[in-house]
Amino acid sequence: MTIYSRISGTGSYLPEKVLTNKALEAHVETSDEWIFSRTGIRQRHVAADNEFASDLALAASRRALEAAGVAAADLSLIIVATTTPDMVFPSTACILQAKLGAKYCPAFDVQAVCSGFVYALATADQFMRSGQYQNILVVGAEVFSRILDWEDRTTCVLFGDGAGAVVLQRSDAPGILSSHLHADGSHAGILSVPGSVSGGKVSGRPLLQMEGNAVFKFAVRVLGEVAEEALAFNHLEKSAIDWLIPHQANIRIIQATAKKLGMPMDKVITTVDKHANTSAASVPLALDTAVRDGRIRPGQLLMLEGVGGGFTWGAVLVRM
Ligand code: UT7
Repeated sequence: MTIYSRISGTGSYLPEKVLTNKALEAHVETSDEWIFSRTGIRQRHVAADNEFASDLALAASRRALEAAGVAAADLSLIIVATTTPDMVFPSTACILQAKLGAKYCPAFDVQAVCSGFVYALATADQFMRSGQYQNILVVGAEVFSRILDWEDRTTCVLFGDGAGAVVLQRSDAPGILSSHLHADGSHAGILSVPGSVSGGKVSGRPLLQMEGNAVFKFAVRVLGEVAEEALAFNHLEKSAIDWLIPHQANIRIIQATAKKLGMPMDKVITTVDKHANTSAASVPLALDTAVRDGRIRPGQLLMLEGVGGGFTWGAVLVRM
């Protein structure tokens, strides 16, 4: 019998503090009109100084576990996708495991920037298919506000903080149909945080830098390609997809991707207006939003897509 993973619960968490475009106008030379018309963003959430990725992950995970009816003690694996870990080590997944009270299950982080959740979900699915795991927690959690240059208007208006989580359970029917991951490290330079810790000091510049136009074009191309790849692999037509849940970086990238798939925007989940780009948290945040407001229903087919620094990209087809 083939073993599959099924999403049995979703959860998310956003820090309390909301930073609107209007409020940003006081910090950098920008306008609500510029930000909204170029990106679709109206506001973002920003973590408090004492909130770390593991805290955001904890709140999202508790909600996902509750929705799935799974106790933390019954988890067999925890995977956290994050680019903004609490510290160099231990992993945010290990810190989360302790906070959840999920003793002894393996826990590790995945680093694929904005594709992080898609990479983590694909990884979890492979573990599940091995037959050794029953309940897997997959989390995307980010505090991107910590790695932004708040004086650089070309980047600081684009990102936000948040976390999303899903519980995967073993199932004899899909579930996750397939996942398709890619990377091309030759494009590392167009989106990076070029800093590291060395000899007790930070070397390089540990703040996000991006060539926006190059990232935009790359994202539109690869999101279209990987969606086609996932459909072809499963012998499915574009019309089979009930909901597209793409990485939430820019509404214009999302619209271009939907257009390539021939999908009307009312079949696309968008949260970029309220959350901005929360990197690895953006897809599970959007997923949880639409599960909880009743748009996503059991039996529907979802196309999850991520793209981000590395460059990395990927798609996961999920039957709810
Ligand atoms: O998860 C993946 C991560 N990132 C992304 O997916 C982002 C992908 N890229 C984008 O979303 C877009 O390229 C941006 C939103 C970053 C930029 O939009 P754009 O339409 O490509 O604008 P642009 O970079 O061509 O800039 C147009 C103008 C420039 O002024 P000049 O040189 O034409 O005089 C910028 O200096 O807009 C200026 N500008 C701003 N003006 C007001 C750049 N940022 C701002 C700002 N407010 N915040």
